[in-house]
Amino acid sequence: MPQGSEFSALFHQISKKSRGKIPHDSAKWPAEWTTIQYKSYPRFPKIALDKQTLTVHLSDVLQKRGSSRDFTGKSITKEQVSTLLQYACGIRNENETYRVHPSAGARYPLEYYPVVFAGNASLPAGLYHYNIEGHSLDVLLPQEPTKDQLADWFTYPWAKDASMAVIITAVFSRTINKYGDRGYRNILIEAGHVGQNLYLVSESLGLKCTAIAGTKDEEIERFLDIDGVTESVVYALLFD
Ligand SMILES: Cc1cc2nc3c(=O)[nH]c(=O)nc-3n(C[C@H](O)[C@H](O)[C@H](O)COP(=O)(O)O)c2cc1C
Repeated sequence: MPQGSEFSALFHQISKKSRGKIPHDSAKWPAEWTTIQYKSYPRFPKIALDKQTLTVHLSDVLQKRGSSRDFTGKSITKEQVSTLLQYACGIRNENETYRVHPSAGARYPLEYYPVVFAGNASLPAGLYHYNIEGHSLDVLLPQEPTKDQLADWFTYPWAKDASMAVIITAVFSRTINKYGDRGYRNILIEAGHVGQNLYLVSESLGLKCTAIAGTKDEEIERFLDIDGVTESVVYALLFD
């Protein structure tokens, strides 16, 4: 067995064999394995996002990408947020359900909550949920956390000067219903795909970006009003 926590080693070993019995004939699959679920907030106000065009050389952004932490809290624009979400985790093409990033079994377990700290008239500070189908933002709370909360949740003093966070959560059942415990691995891998997209798009836009692993998940989950069990924080990135 590998060194480290007994629990992570045990989980890894068990999940090697837990793919379950998935018939090759997809006609035999239950509807929950093929239906793509979206979280929606129909009663909340929305901010429409216009589709953006991004023209960059992939080799340039790959070579320039890096984590930057010297944030200044300059305001982030609605167009920048639209571009980040569209090209990191949005629908791939009009009239499609598949997205710009891969997803095990196309189960799409992830949800995205942009928290804008430094906004402007077209995109005020506040907590939003990305409505993937409609490429719009659900306005969950038109009020940003305080700078002290930011430094605390993201555990670094420099986090207070970010202009936006994108908090990525997982609705575990979407993937685990099909793939069992192995699905848990797939969910975290998928968050990594989206994280790299966010890094590359932010580099294309001239924004700074840093992934944050050690977030105070339970406090953020209370702010997002999610239960932390069926849906929980899995990743977060800060931008400026
Ligand atoms: C999963 C993950 C978690 C990370 N968590 C943090 C973090 O909590 N704090 C931080 O300053 N950087 C964090 N980073 C950024 C890494 O420190 C950074 O990617 C690494 O030092 C390499 O630098 P580069 O991104 O500039 O190439 C994280 C990166 C990844 C992939």
